[in-house]
Amino acid sequence: MNAKELFMNGEFVPAERGMISVRTHGFAYGTGCFEGIRGYWNEADQQVYLFRLREHYERFLHSCKILQISLPYTVEQLVDISTELVRRNGHRQDVYLRPVAYKADLTIGVSLHDRIDSFIITSEPFGNYINITGLHCGVSSWRRIDDNAVPARAKILGAYVNSAFAKSEAIQNGFDEAIMLTSEGHVSEGSAENIFLMMNGEFVTPASTENILLGITRDTVIELGRREFGRITRERQVDRTELYVADEIFLCGTGAQIAPVISVDHRPVGNGQVGPIAKKLQQLYFEVARGRCPEYRAQWCTPVYASVPKSEPQMQHSEMLD
Ligand SMILES: Cc1ncc(COP(=O)(O)O)c(C=O)c1O
Repeated sequence: MNAKELFMNGEFVPAERGMISVRTHGFAYGTGCFEGIRGYWNEADQQVYLFRLREHYERFLHSCKILQISLPYTVEQLVDISTELVRRNGHRQDVYLRPVAYKADLTIGVSLHDRIDSFIITSEPFGNYINITGLHCGVSSWRRIDDNAVPARAKILGAYVNSAFAKSEAIQNGFDEAIMLTSEGHVSEGSAENIFLMMNGEFVTPASTENILLGITRDTVIELGRREFGRITRERQVDRTELYVADEIFLCGTGAQIAPVISVDHRPVGNGQVGPIAKKLQQLYFEVARGRCPEYRAQWCTPVYASVPKSEPQMQHSEMLD
């Protein structure tokens, strides 16, 4: 890991001390939860802005609650620990933070209650997670985990085996990314991304009840769609074949950012090129996440280093949407 320190059980320690026993419950059974948080380097401000940090930690504490993990931290304390970690590591580039809470007992047995809870955060430099210039996607033969089996609403360590099955199948079949259906056969999400369709000028995305992780980026897209594009997102059930007739499709997530989809199951999306809305939204997303739009910076970007932002918006939103 390309960082000097990490945070583990209440203290900052040298990264090489970040080790757990092979008998750890969370390792043996996947009984833990995590977050993936991005920080963007802003050259003009000489600043790393952590994007929607509070919302990530609110979701993290919800995941903990579902898994019966209790941490001795508030959202504010987790925010402070995160900014301190990035400062200590001196990152001056785009970064990825991974908080993990897990069952730390060294015992055999699969229950959640009355166990030892542990917590770590790591940070490291990070670039693009997937291609953001046009993805070829395939509908997976692996169905999305159900809320009554392993709830997708919580970001549970073991649940990512479901994502890994779908992702590997997609790549090994020649696609870039998988789109998973619910057990009822409706569109759910990508292996680690939410999905949006543009249908007759409307933003459409699977509803929160479709076994999705309620993505922070999904929420950002809904908000930008309303405020900058003047369009309400329809959160509803989405049929598989709507993927074949949508005007545009894009995936979104902290890792994926805004990743346009140009084909699904060998059928071109729209004319097979990145669509105009996805393109503008992607540009806007990067401006916002990098802290270049003052009103969104105040709302969503947490500065790591002590300094006053100097940059003005490089581009007005209205110009981008022309
Ligand atoms: C399964 C899954 N869905 C959706 C997302 C997108 O969520 P977010 O935008 O909060 O990163 C992720 C990534 O964290 C994910 O792993």
